[in-house]
Amino acid sequence: MRDDTFDFAKHLLAWFDVHGRKDLPWQQDKSPYRVWISEIMLQQTQVSTVIPYYRAFMARFSNVESLASAPIDDVLQHWAGLGYYARARNLHKAAQQIIALGALPNTLSDLVALPGIGQSTAGAILSLAFDDSHPILDGNVKRVLTRVFAIEGWPGRREVESELWALSAELTPRARCADYTQAIMDLGATLCTRSRPRCMACPMQSHCQAYLTQTVAHYPQRKPPKTLPVKPIFFLVMRNAAGECWLEQRPMKGIWGGLWSLPEIDRIQDVEMWCNTHELTLKDQHILAVQRHTFSHYHLDYTPLLLTVAQDTPSIHWHAAAQWQKRALPAPINTLLTQLMTENFL
Ligand code: ADE
Repeated sequence: MRDDTFDFAKHLLAWFDVHGRKDLPWQQDKSPYRVWISEIMLQQTQVSTVIPYYRAFMARFSNVESLASAPIDDVLQHWAGLGYYARARNLHKAAQQIIALGALPNTLSDLVALPGIGQSTAGAILSLAFDDSHPILDGNVKRVLTRVFAIEGWPGRREVESELWALSAELTPRARCADYTQAIMDLGATLCTRSRPRCMACPMQSHCQAYLTQTVAHYPQRKPPKTLPVKPIFFLVMRNAAGECWLEQRPMKGIWGGLWSLPEIDRIQDVEMWCNTHELTLKDQHILAVQRHTFSHYHLDYTPLLLTVAQDTPSIHWHAAAQWQKRALPAPINTLLTQLMTENFL
């Protein structure tokens, strides 16, 4: 048990009585069937998008029998535009299982056994449709709880999620469960939004640990970036007697496709072979410190090798400064060459 839960439900319900949403279509003629359909539609979709789809769906499939006996194509047609079509297929399968069961189940274990219903959706159906005290933990609730109670860590992590479930369960009252569940979703959707939350209007303001420490934007914490693989390479910065630099156009496919860049080799031992193949005589070489350029899927750790070559035959690859400055160069290459120019290497 936590000792910082104050009268969370009381504050929330007092706010809900004045500001909560009470005219949503699934709040009218409430039935387990109507609540179930709405919760599935609302899983990944905003209220304003769902409303017209919900109305049309209910007009066509007004009860679980009509949904179960409809052709799947008909169900999918009514879902077209909502996205995540597995939801519609699961809804149709679940409707047939519900017919076999006799009614929409009213226990957590029976609900989560149906396709498309997880812990949070089951909790929402039980509290909203049956006024039975069950916690929920959807994205809105995660945002509210991580802020009010300053819960650190990414909510997708197992330990953080367990902590949030325990907290949600502890806060959920025995009475007015349906209103409480609707209220916490409304708070997350209308005030405690991801960006630009309206803290000034929030009933939790004087208790919210994030608000009190001015760290609202810090919660909920984002998914930590994946550790990216490292690709080590050497860039050859070739300078000829005229002070020109060797550049090659990269293949159209792959990173920096079509841009002009420095030749690259995987192993430093390959320098001599590279020069031989290009009929260049190496006079001098100098190694610079490794630098990192990060792509979305890996770190490129590149070590520039400064190479001075003897007088050579003309080639389209040799670029005077005025020429390479007009080429489309990758940003780190441009930075490197510019720096070498100010140091009089180029
Ligand atoms: N999001 C998920 N369920 C909801 C509901 N019943 N009302 C508003 N937003 C929701």
